[in-house]
Amino acid sequence: MTDTSTYTLLDGKALSAILKKEIGLEVAAMVKQGLRAPHLAAILVGEDGASMTYVGSKVKTCDELGFESTLITLKPETTEAELLEEIEAVNNNDSIDGLIVQLPLPKHISVEKITTAIHPRKDVDGFNPVNVGRMVQNLPAYLPATPFGILQMLESHQVPTEGKHCVVIGRSNIVGMPMSVLMARNGYPGNCTVTLCHSRTANLKEEVKRADIVIAALGKPGFVKGDMIKPGAVVIDVGITRVEDATRKAGFRLAGDVDFESVAPLCSYITPVPGGVGPMTIIGLLQNTLKAARHEIYS
Ligand code: GUN
Repeated sequence: MTDTSTYTLLDGKALSAILKKEIGLEVAAMVKQGLRAPHLAAILVGEDGASMTYVGSKVKTCDELGFESTLITLKPETTEAELLEEIEAVNNNDSIDGLIVQLPLPKHISVEKITTAIHPRKDVDGFNPVNVGRMVQNLPAYLPATPFGILQMLESHQVPTEGKHCVVIGRSNIVGMPMSVLMARNGYPGNCTVTLCHSRTANLKEEVKRADIVIAALGKPGFVKGDMIKPGAVVIDVGITRVEDATRKAGFRLAGDVDFESVAPLCSYITPVPGGVGPMTIIGLLQNTLKAARHEIYS
């Protein structure tokens, strides 16, 4: 049998380890200068297992790299008004640089109201409409952490993007929508011709097959198969769905949106799951928090 697998793995775990060291050194230098360490506050409403894990690893990474962190955990029945009060308190706390409210939120709370209430200066998730608008206009803005992490993965391998056809699958405010904007913008990585596919897209398979760069962010394990991929494509897998697996200690494993086995042999570059986009997301968040502490986006 001929081995056709010539792809390069975009290793988010390795890149995140390098960037963590850099961030840690920058924080140490700030503190040595007599400045306060960057301080991230995270609000978690409810007890969703995956959200608890994500917030926990954000806080843990803060501690590792010398950031201050404050975790505010609220009961699932917390009202929207109570959450807004918590946000206001953090907005007015001069010792906190960045604030995230972990999503998803319980159904009785409006995500739009919450993201809008976080002060744009402290909005290190980049979900406030002010930051989204600035991003769209290519102005300095906090970029959402996952897309920001993906850009850095492409950059680290100098993956060519100019003039390429990029197909993004999924139009969420957290990944798909910002990713489509960032891949189209004038710069590197960017300058792509972008197609944003979603649940109502006709002929999805044909659209994906035309792509030089595929960014799969739809949250359906193994959705993207080898027969949807143009040979030589770059494939970025944003999926991290928990699927039951009795052979694992935790009772589940993390599955990407891409069927790695059938897709990887066709690719020039591909991200693994786990160890791809996931570890880069926390990096993006901490880089934004460092920027917030340094007043880099808003003077
Ligand atoms: N839920 C899934 N991804 C994210 C993220 O990047 N930020 C927040 N706040 N919640 C999320």
